[in-house]
Amino acid sequence: MNQFKLAPSILSADFNKLGEEIRAVENSGLELLHIDVMDGNFVPSISYGMPVIKSIRNESDLFFDVHLMIEDPGRYISDFVNAGANGITVHAEACTHLNRVIGQIKEAGVKAAVALNPATPIDVLRYVEEDLDMILLMTVNPGFGGQKFIPQSMQKIRELRAHLSERGLSTDIQVDGGIKAENIREVADAGATIFVAGSSVFHGDIAKNIKALQDALR
Ligand code: DX5
Ligand code: ZN
Repeated sequence: MNQFKLAPSILSADFNKLGEEIRAVENSGLELLHIDVMDGNFVPSISYGMPVIKSIRNESDLFFDVHLMIEDPGRYISDFVNAGANGITVHAEACTHLNRVIGQIKEAGVKAAVALNPATPIDVLRYVEEDLDMILLMTVNPGFGGQKFIPQSMQKIRELRAHLSERGLSTDIQVDGGIKAENIREVADAGATIFVAGSSVFHGDIAKNIKALQDALR
């Protein structure tokens, strides 16, 4: 089984001291940084885009895990790679030609992942899952940090893990939304391997919060 990894989401960071907070993540020995891009169309809110990613890229060696919550993301794959993305996640619901967009991401030389909203069945991945480095299951409705984990997600994670194992795939399952020290162990037991954590990392003491999540995973 893959190693467990935390992916702190800067959506909940204090943007007035973003560089400093990213350094705190780096100093905790983590490898991933989750970067949520929202267009005010696919999701209700608007976050940040290429210029912010480019700027933090200059100061960080973390793996930039870019989660695109935008309509028709195929329009922007090369822009996000040029800005410094190491992996790009697109929503199945936002792509008319999902297979093509996955191909674009891979051709651009970064890791490719597809995200599913809570109500989207895992079957939509049936004919693309072999090509993916990671599958992101949203465990809240995307658009905002600090929401509550949707309980039905637990069953969905279990079903996806069982399905992947049946097909002989050990693809990483990333979960995003409402992950805290109180539920991370159960989510890991269900089959997730990569845990996005926004408010549970950036609200309060970052190093302490990361340690609490890691301890809960042990
Ligand atoms: C929500 C974003 C998440 C968000 C998670 O649409 O995709 O990555 O930052 O925030 P928490 O961990 O606070 O639920
Ligand atoms: Zn996210």
